[in-house]
Amino acid sequence: MQRITTLDEFIITRQKSYSSATGELTGLLRDIGLAAKIVNREVNKAGLINILGKFDQENSSGEQVAKLDIYANDRLIEFLKTSGECAGLASEELEDIIPFPARNNKYGKYVVLVDPLDGSSNIDVNVSVGTIFGIYRRLGNEDSPVDLRDFLQKGTELVAAGYVIYGTSTILVYSTGDGVNGFTLDPTIGEFCLSHRDIKIPAEGPYYSVNQGYYLKFDLEMRRYIDYCSDLNLRLRYIGTMVADIHRILFQGGIFLYPNTRKYPKGKLRLLYECNPLSYIVEQAGGQAVNTNLERILEMEPEELHQRTSVLMGSPKMIEEMKDFVLKYSPNIHSEIE
Ligand code: AHG
Repeated sequence: MQRITTLDEFIITRQKSYSSATGELTGLLRDIGLAAKIVNREVNKAGLINILGKFDQENSSGEQVAKLDIYANDRLIEFLKTSGECAGLASEELEDIIPFPARNNKYGKYVVLVDPLDGSSNIDVNVSVGTIFGIYRRLGNEDSPVDLRDFLQKGTELVAAGYVIYGTSTILVYSTGDGVNGFTLDPTIGEFCLSHRDIKIPAEGPYYSVNQGYYLKFDLEMRRYIDYCSDLNLRLRYIGTMVADIHRILFQGGIFLYPNTRKYPKGKLRLLYECNPLSYIVEQAGGQAVNTNLERILEMEPEELHQRTSVLMGSPKMIEEMKDFVLKYSPNIHSEIE
């Protein structure tokens, strides 16, 4: 029988292969893994204890949040604040950044952006939810606390990103820019174990994932492309937890679409907390991620913490085909190109 490799062992082995690595990023990833285990425990208990239900408050984007969102948010803050490597955190659940205090007169080298519990509307009905994270090297030096600029970096500057899906199994998928690996939580030993080495997204696949209920609210080119997917008899799968929809596409191939709608003219999903980290993973696995203007998500310039964007990501061949539809049917993009 092959010996298992735990997440901690894997991270440390990877670190040793970089002579310049100081171990700080390694420590940060391990802390995120630890926080994920604690969140996983509570997510699993959600049906058993009186933790379900809504807090009487709204998150910074004006949506009602479930109690577990707050729980996950608090655990991540707790673990990252004491890690020493993290200089501050920004969360989809919080209006502003949280600068962390110095340890031994030094502030951490990295900042972390998180969506603590993606897909929270699915909790009450026992459907998969997730945690998404992105890690950047801070811009200023370690003698001063972080400020907003450290968080408003383009996705191309990510040094690591990943997600955890709390599904039939709990799986953590991450990349530090040299491929993507997945780890399944073995509840009997409480460890994330390497289960999916060097994940590659299929060039095309049988799935398209979009909220078809908004069909009439999409622009013409998106409607044409969705019609084309349907004509091809592609299978429509939409969970409403981005992590879960992307997880399927990462392994089985397909395309995920959350275009702009009349209600969300710039798109609904958050650039910094959802789209950048997941685009990074998809690109590292060989896929592509763009917005409806066909700009690469990772190259979008962030202007504010809770910026939203349209997003189209998945298998490379399918994204290329989708781009052809956009170029053919979108009058705006045509005139910009001509
Ligand atoms: P939230 O975490 O607030 O529940 O948002 C979930 C996000 C994303 O995960 C998902 O793909 C999308 O919102 C679903 O939005 P619609 O319900 O508008 O399709």
